[in-house]
Amino acid sequence: MRRAEKSFRGELSLPGDKSISHRVFILSSLAHGTSRVKNLLLSEDVMMTRKIMESVGLEIHGAGMEIRLHGKGPESLTEPADVLYAGNSGTTMRIGSGLLATIDGLSVITGDRYLRRRPMDRIALPLSQMGATVMGRNGGRYPPLVIRGGKLKSIKYEMPTPSAQVKSAILVAAAAGDVAAAVKEPLPTRDHTERMLINMGAKVSREGGWITYEPGDELGPLDMAVPADFSSAAFFIVGATITSGSEILLKNILVNPLRNGLLRVLERMGAKVQLINRHVVSGEETADMIVKSSELKGTAVERNEIPLLIDEVPILAVAAAFASGITEIRGAGELRVKESDRIASMTSQLAKLGVKIEELPDGMVIEGSRGGFRDGEVSSFGDHRIAMALEIFAQSAGIEARLDDRDCISTSFPDFYEKLRGLLS
Ligand code: S3P
Repeated sequence: MRRAEKSFRGELSLPGDKSISHRVFILSSLAHGTSRVKNLLLSEDVMMTRKIMESVGLEIHGAGMEIRLHGKGPESLTEPADVLYAGNSGTTMRIGSGLLATIDGLSVITGDRYLRRRPMDRIALPLSQMGATVMGRNGGRYPPLVIRGGKLKSIKYEMPTPSAQVKSAILVAAAAGDVAAAVKEPLPTRDHTERMLINMGAKVSREGGWITYEPGDELGPLDMAVPADFSSAAFFIVGATITSGSEILLKNILVNPLRNGLLRVLERMGAKVQLINRHVVSGEETADMIVKSSELKGTAVERNEIPLLIDEVPILAVAAAFASGITEIRGAGELRVKESDRIASMTSQLAKLGVKIEELPDGMVIEGSRGGFRDGEVSSFGDHRIAMALEIFAQSAGIEARLDDRDCISTSFPDFYEKLRGLLS
């Protein structure tokens, strides 16, 4: 076995959380007043949301680390003059559609070739129940979407699959349309929309799996600093864990329990991750993390854990490849409709690099090993998280993975390589 030539060492600050950054642009348009937000993520995906919000009339100042968003209430938003482009971003299209459903007029929204393959009926259905007309290709399933928005009615909706994007699309439509909404999630999903709406003065509550929005007073602006993205930190947490001689300090990371499922699984596998300096920033918990290399053992990841680590499965598969014994991930069928089919992407590409990995309809089984890995030509399938997971694997395995598309990494983490080099030097 060729060992990694370098360990992960040093201190790291990471850009703001992607989910929260998208929501800043959308939710601030519902406020009456100027939102002030620091440490936004400036990635391609988030810039898609920013441009769309400008196209419907939100005035935004500043492009760097602090921006001001001049909310004049949802009634001030206007029909876009041209087709809206969401790029690779499912969050932009799904949550954005919730807002477009309330704008009097016609909106057309499309995306890149990957996004145009992702299901949109999951938002078209509830938004239609609220009174909007939402049409798409293939009977409403795929983008481009054509939305005729206007006055909405209240909704009570049970989501068939856990999805924070669907929940958020409904809550945004309700808040912008000034109607009541109750959404039931089969399993808890990330709750940034709820937290941010509450910070803006909205009446949002959760009881027995139901999340309800009740119309009330005008919403106030956001004043917040976005905590660093746990999903980006995850690549370095796993990299440091599986690479001998590593020790890193990650600063100010989002530790929302609905996002940190990976930490609990890694701890079960034997990882050493210490959380210090815990505090609440703008309604979200954050902490610094100290991660040291450790020997891992395989584990079973079950269906109810999946929404809590949905974006971290690719890098969890990398951790499992270095663990002793078998890791089974089940109940993760949703991964098939992410930026790529992440079950097929990870199993096929890690197998090329010598990992013993088997595809299941709703997950994967990985037999870990400390060696036997080999160089190879691999594909990211245009998926940022597949690309980053394969890069961390190659680094830790001491092999060369020749990746066909690295540019996709800018959708969520433009500074990935710079941060990686900083830790490895
Ligand atoms: C997100 C929700 C998740 C996640 C995505 C971001 C969000 O998608 O995978 O990267 O910001 O709400 P689903 O809602 O489809 O589970």
